[in-house]
Amino acid sequence: MEESFSGFKRTKYCGEVSEEDLGSEVNLCGWVHRIRDHGGVIFIDLRDREGIVQVVVEEAKVPEVYEKAGDIRAEWVIGVTGEVRRRPPGTENPRLKTGDYEILAKEIKVFSKSEVPPFPIEEETQVSEELKLRYRYLDLRRSSMKENLLFRHKTCQIVRNFLVSEGFIEIETPFLTKSTPEGARDFIVPSRLHPGKFYALPQSPQLFKQILMVAGFDRYFQIVRCFRDEDLRADRQPEFTQIDFEMSFVEEDDVIDVSERLVAELFRELLGMEIPLPLERITYTEAMNRYGTDRPDRRFGLELIDLTEVFKESGFKVFRRAVDSGGCVKAIKLSGVDVSRKDIDDLTEYVKGLGAGGLAWIRVDRDGLTSPIVKFFSEEEKKGVLNRTKAVEGEVIFFSADSKENVHRILGNLRLHLGKRYSLIDEKKWDLFWVTDFPLMEWDEEEKRFVSLHHPFTSPKEEDTELLREALKTEDLNERKEIIKGVRARAYDLVINGEEIGGGSIRIHRSDVQEIVFSLLEISRKEAEEKFGFLLEALKYGAPPHGGLAFGLDRLVALMRGLDSIRDVIAFPKTQKGICPLTSAPAEVTGRQLRDVHIRITE
Ligand code: AMO
Ligand code: AMP
Repeated sequence: MEESFSGFKRTKYCGEVSEEDLGSEVNLCGWVHRIRDHGGVIFIDLRDREGIVQVVVEEAKVPEVYEKAGDIRAEWVIGVTGEVRRRPPGTENPRLKTGDYEILAKEIKVFSKSEVPPFPIEEETQVSEELKLRYRYLDLRRSSMKENLLFRHKTCQIVRNFLVSEGFIEIETPFLTKSTPEGARDFIVPSRLHPGKFYALPQSPQLFKQILMVAGFDRYFQIVRCFRDEDLRADRQPEFTQIDFEMSFVEEDDVIDVSERLVAELFRELLGMEIPLPLERITYTEAMNRYGTDRPDRRFGLELIDLTEVFKESGFKVFRRAVDSGGCVKAIKLSGVDVSRKDIDDLTEYVKGLGAGGLAWIRVDRDGLTSPIVKFFSEEEKKGVLNRTKAVEGEVIFFSADSKENVHRILGNLRLHLGKRYSLIDEKKWDLFWVTDFPLMEWDEEEKRFVSLHHPFTSPKEEDTELLREALKTEDLNERKEIIKGVRARAYDLVINGEEIGGGSIRIHRSDVQEIVFSLLEISRKEAEEKFGFLLEALKYGAPPHGGLAFGLDRLVALMRGLDSIRDVIAFPKTQKGICPLTSAPAEVTGRQLRDVHIRITE
C-alpha cells in the first residue's frame, strides 16, 4: 500500500506549524511518532526534523482516510494534507512548540512502512549503547540526539564565521599522509601502487599547518578530522574533530586572545552566557602543586597540602623514606562528610589501584586524633599537620608519600574521586582557564628517554633556550634531568571544568633550536630526516615565527551540552572497543583486496 510521492509538495516542517497557518491547508511529511485510536477519531503525532505536530483524522469527515489511518503504525513515513486549526480549549499541549494547533486530515499518503523498531523512539530508553549504535538512524531520531547534532552544527557555523571575520583562511590538508607525532599510535593505510609502503592517517594537521605558515598563508583554520589509535574512553574516539588553527608573526598572547574570544563567542551565542575575558592563567607547576594534575577541576576545593617539611625527620618510615629519597609527603583534607572505616578501606583500595603503597589517614575527633599511624608521629609532627591543614573536628586527612610525580598522580586522582563520590563538585559552575609554562620535556621511565609534553615542534621559552644547550653538553643523565626540568615550553592548554579542551604552542621556527630539541629527545638526524624531513626543510626556506592551537570540537560540544560522553555529539561514533556496530567496521577484506595492497595475513 506504499504510495507515490510524485506530486506531493511539502509546504512546511511539522515542527514549524504556527499561528500564521491557522485556517490554511498544509502538506506535511514525516514519521509517525505515535498513533492513538479513540474510536471515531484517530490522533497521529507526526514528527520531522523540526518537531512534532498533531494530526486528527475524523471518521465522520473523511471515512476512507480514517480507515487507512487505522492500519498505520509507528515510524511509518507518511504525507498529510489538511487544514490547520486551533486545538479545542483544554486540549492544548504546552510541551510541544506546535501544541496549540492540530491538522485536520483531508488526505494521508503512506510513502514507506516501517518494521517495528527494536526500541521505541523515546527520550528515556533503557537500551544498551551497542544496540543504539547498531540502529543509530533510529537513535538519532530521538529529539535529544537531534538537538546534540544541531548544536554541533551551530557550533561549527559560529566557529567558521568568527575565524573568517578574524582573517583566517580555511584550507584542507591531506588524510593520506605521513605520521604526525602527537604521541598516539598511527592508523596506517597500505599503498597498492607502492608495495610495502603505507600512508598514515594524520593525528592532527600539525606539520601541514606549519608548512602553510612557511607558504605565507599567515592565518589558517580547518574543522578537521584527526585519527589516533589509542585506548578509548568517554572523552576519546579513534577519529575525532579539531578546530585547528595557526597564525604567523604572533606570540602566546595573540593565540590565547583569539582562542578565548572564540570560546566566549560560542558560550554567548549558544548558551547565552557572558564569559569574562581575559581568562585566568595558571602555570603548570601551580596546577600540579595544588591539584596534582595539569587539567584540574577547580569547581571544588580539596587542594593538596605539602607536608614534606613536617616529616623531614619523621620516625614514621613510610613518610621518612619518601622524603629521604627526594620525594614528598602531601595531604588532602576532606570536610563536611561522614567517612566510615569501610569508606577508608574503599579509598585505600582505590589508591592501591593507582599504584600507591597505601593510604595513610588521620581523623580529628573530639578527644584527639584517630589514626593507625599517629602513634608514630612526634608532638611536633602532629602540631605541624594540624597547623598546615587547619583540620578541625570531624575532618579527615589523607596522605600520600612517594616521588613527587606519584604523589601528584595519586592525590590528583583521589581528589577527583572524592569530589565525585561525595558530590562536592558544583555542577552549575563554569570554570575556564589556561594552563601555561609546561615543561618542554619529561623523562619517560619506560622508554628511558625524554619525551615532549606537547610535540617536538613546540618552542622552548626564549630565556630557557640556553638551558637546553647546557643540558646537551652534560653527559651525566641526572644532571641533564635536573636541567631539563627547568626548561619551559611556550605551550598553553585551555581547561574547562577539569577537561582539556584545547592545546597549542608557539613553534620552533629556527632549525638550530629544532636540532637541539631533537638531540635531547634522542631523535637522530636520520630519524628526523625520515619522519619529518619535509618540515625541517621547509623551515629552512624563510619560516615566519608562528604558533597555533587546536580545540577538541567533540569535547567542547559535549561539555556545552552537559554530556558525559563525546559519543553523544558524534553522528556515527565507535564503541569503547573501536567498533562501529552500524557497519561492523573494522571488518575483514577479500583476498583480492589484500593481494592488491601486497599484504598477507599470517596467524
Ligand atoms: P592535542 O593533541 O592537544 O594538540 O589535541 C587538541 C585537542 O584535541 C582533543 N583531543 C581529542 N578529542 C577526542 N578524542 C581524542 N582521541 C582526542 N585527542 C585529542 C583535546 C585536545 O585538547 N596539533 C596539536 C595542536 C597544536 O599544537 O596546535 C594537537 O593536536 O580536546
Ligand atoms: P605500612 O607501614 O606499610 O603498614 O603502612 C602504614 C600506613 O601507611 C598504612 O595505613 C598504609 O595504608 C599507609 N601507607 C603505606 N604506604 C603509603 C604511601 N606511599 N603514602 C601514604 N600512605 C601510605
